[in-house]
Amino acid sequence: MNDNTVMSVKNVSVKYKGANDSAETLALENVNLDVNDGDFVCILGPSGCGKSTLLNVMGGLLEATEGSVEMLGEAVRGVDPKRAIVFQQPTLYPWMDVYSNIAFGPNVRGIKSEETDRRTKEYIELVGLEDFAHSKPYELSGGMRQRAALARALVNDPVLILLDEPFGALDAFTRTTMQDLIRKVWKSTKCSAVMITHDVDEALSLATRVITMSALPGTIIKEFDVNFTNYAEDSEEDFRYTKEYLDLRREVLHLIKQK
Ligand SMILES: Nc1ncnc2c1ncn2[C@@H]1O[C@H](COP(=O)(O)OP(=O)(O)O)[C@@H](O)[C@H]1O
Ligand SMILES: [Mg+2]
Repeated sequence: MNDNTVMSVKNVSVKYKGANDSAETLALENVNLDVNDGDFVCILGPSGCGKSTLLNVMGGLLEATEGSVEMLGEAVRGVDPKRAIVFQQPTLYPWMDVYSNIAFGPNVRGIKSEETDRRTKEYIELVGLEDFAHSKPYELSGGMRQRAALARALVNDPVLILLDEPFGALDAFTRTTMQDLIRKVWKSTKCSAVMITHDVDEALSLATRVITMSALPGTIIKEFDVNFTNYAEDSEEDFRYTKEYLDLRREVLHLIKQK
């Protein structure tokens, strides 16, 4: 841990008790991870290896069986607006329009209404939903709903944004647009991000650090420092054809496929 550390996961193991007499599941085993200021960490691993478990522990939604999680020097317990969480299924209130969904967090926290209004509009614009501010979630496409969920998380000015396969349910074209959006958000808000994905190209094109996990019980096998995200904005993704990219892609795929 150093002065730049936003979150520190130390020796975390998570064991799920089996229902009735069924066996326990050791979902995570001795995971250590420091997230530093400005990092974009992507976590890749086989299905069922404990990725969501790890993200839920980092978000304060689930308590580790062993080990500890600290954020800015304080133990992580329960939800906190400093930690935004975005899931694969957008979490929006179906009876509220986009504007009210986004303004909900600041409203319940008692932020002044002019300030809430200003921030809500700012984030609606950042995610490109200006024309849909008064639409209800059922009137939006999947990608638009995820944009609204993202704005709803960001309006609280989080230090860390945690994303669990946020684009997993979207079609390929929408996914690419959303990847560009999340990169823009990460750069403009200067928050740190941890994103779970099973898409190696998504991880390599967004991350500053790619972390690979083993099959159950999930452990961290290897970490890679990458920098393609800083070329991705205006290069028309040409970096995907470089030897450096292809070699790294092959190595990562090999790691996450091995049992
Ligand atoms: N609430 C739970 N109770 C019991 N077992 C669980 C629970 N949640 C997840 N698991 C098990 O823990 C393992 C890891 O799950 P998860 O973290 O969701 O994996 P991933 O997100 O990598 O697909 C899986 O074997 C899963 O079946
Ligand atoms: Mg999962």
